[in-house]
Amino acid sequence: MPNFAAYDTVFLCFPVWGETAPPIIRSFLAAHDLTGKTIRPVVTHGGYGLGDSLAVLQRHAPNANLEPAFSMEADQKRRTMTQVRDWLGQIARA
Ligand SMILES: Cc1cc2nc3c(=O)[nH]c(=O)nc-3n(C[C@H](O)[C@H](O)[C@H](O)COP(=O)(O)O)c2cc1C
Repeated sequence: MPNFAAYDTVFLCFPVWGETAPPIIRSFLAAHDLTGKTIRPVVTHGGYGLGDSLAVLQRHAPNANLEPAFSMEADQKRRTMTQVRDWLGQIARA
């Protein structure tokens, strides 16, 4: 990322994949020096929580100030739509 040194705080937004942070997040952290910067993780997951993703951030950016993550289960909207549509299909056929 260009001019990375100019930023003090990094909002690191990613989905949990396979109970951990996706490879692109590890690559990003490995490619940038986060010494002295604040990381604010913004994490979505499919209902199984953060896994070891915060430990991965800590390991890849040991000299950063890692703030508590904002996290949320994503996809509720899609799931609600799917389930209501399925239910409507069932009662329409009944
Ligand atoms: C390859 C893959 C692996 C995933 N692994 C997990 C997981 O281990 N735990 C979990 O809670 N959600 C898992 N999910 C669900 C994603 O975290 C969820 O879909 C995502 O946070 C929602 O953001 P999106 O709309 O960008 O996909 C996985 C999704 C994909 C595509």
